[in-house]
Amino acid sequence: MAAAESSKKLRVLLVPFFATSHIGPFTRPRRPKPDAVEPTVAVTPANVKVVRSAVERHGPEASGLVKIATYPFPRVDGLAPGVENLSAAGDDGWRIDAAAIDEALIRPAQEALVREQSPDAISTDVHFVWNNAVAAELGVPCVTFSVIGIFSTLAMHHLTIRIPVSELPEFLRQQQELGGLKQSLVAIGRCFGVAMNTFQDLERPYCDTCLRSGFLKRTYFVVPLSLLLPPAGAGTGDSPRVRWLGTKPSCSVVYVCFGTFAVISEDQLPEMALGLEASGRPFLWVVRADGWTPPDGWEERVGERGMLVRGWAPQTAILAHPAVGAFLTHCGSSSLLEAAAAGVPMLTWPLVFDQFIEERLVTEVLRIGERVWSGPRSTRYEEREVVPAEAVARAVARFLEPGGAGEAARGRARELAAKANAAVAEGGSSYRDLRRLVDDLVQANIAAAGQPGRRARE
Ligand SMILES: *[C@@H]1O[C@H](CO)[C@@H](O)[C@H](O)[C@H]1NC(C)=O
Repeated sequence: MAAAESSKKLRVLLVPFFATSHIGPFTRPRRPKPDAVEPTVAVTPANVKVVRSAVERHGPEASGLVKIATYPFPRVDGLAPGVENLSAAGDDGWRIDAAAIDEALIRPAQEALVREQSPDAISTDVHFVWNNAVAAELGVPCVTFSVIGIFSTLAMHHLTIRIPVSELPEFLRQQQELGGLKQSLVAIGRCFGVAMNTFQDLERPYCDTCLRSGFLKRTYFVVPLSLLLPPAGAGTGDSPRVRWLGTKPSCSVVYVCFGTFAVISEDQLPEMALGLEASGRPFLWVVRADGWTPPDGWEERVGERGMLVRGWAPQTAILAHPAVGAFLTHCGSSSLLEAAAAGVPMLTWPLVFDQFIEERLVTEVLRIGERVWSGPRSTRYEEREVVPAEAVARAVARFLEPGGAGEAARGRARELAAKANAAVAEGGSSYRDLRRLVDDLVQANIAAAGQPGRRARE
């Protein structure tokens, strides 16, 4: 019985939140035991495209390994039909956030899908804590997946660092939501286990605190998964961006990208453009602003020194390129991990969510980056000040100066990259934790197979 069960693949249903940055990590094939697991990603119809493109970026090998199942997105006041992710919602992103944690709104459709799929295990985004209860009813284990790392998680729950109120995530600024946070914490403490988007050497003391606290039953630090795969955008070596990078000296280029969700304001864009121009350094800038055009004459003046990319860029391939000397980033947790894994130091420019907290991990704890701007900043769009072009130019030029702060940060970033590679190599901490995660789920599944309440599998 046990032998027959374990020779089958473990069918895991993955339930990510409605944002590209959350869907991405769920679509990576579960190495180092790809043969042991059959992953299905559960999303709403408008997000199927996001899963497909995330999977395709990991090459043809990945495409066949990940299945997709859909459940309907609920009607949400203020959101047009078909708007089902943070990128599409723009300034209404908070409506998606609020809807996502609304159990009455989201649970019925997700639960119906879970029951229909009848998986052997569930991996749910931290937003959808009720999936732990659904899993318990079905008698299967459920692992909560946290896209943000442990430093930021602990900081939000215990506020162990000093931070101005304006730089706190919106939900912490709104006291009334703290009740919800407590409830979800209790649920997470009860669930089978928690998988974290981090690796032990990135946040070592905080990982230890988390393990020692005994609050979570099982904890797995499982990334950087991206290192287990050919880099996203592998085979893009002949893309115009990568070719352009090939013409630049080693560590000379600043790569500028604010991720897939938050955007900088219309007022900020020209200051950014002029600042990058005045820095005198080569730059590769990913702009997500439809219809925006740079100031008059800017493109001619910048010429071959700058490269403007609209839409998506192969970030891991860019960060891995020897010409890239710094990453000007919003400090989203995935970007932070990718930079750390590539050994690229960061210029930090957080915008929303927990990004101001992640920034402190980069600048104060790991010391692999520097702030662009120390003036008043805020997670609220309307409270944000425009950073003048001179400040952008100064920060970029100084950071890329030979022998300067950027070089010292790069030394530390490269040590961290070596540790990231060691973590995912055979026997490394992330490699072991991933194996343990799969093994624990298989074991729990076998143990639960005979329990009452467990649906028989055909
Ligand atoms: C978000 O949803 C829209 C549909 O509203 C879809 O076209 C798009 O691919 C999704 N993802 C992103 C990153 O915008």
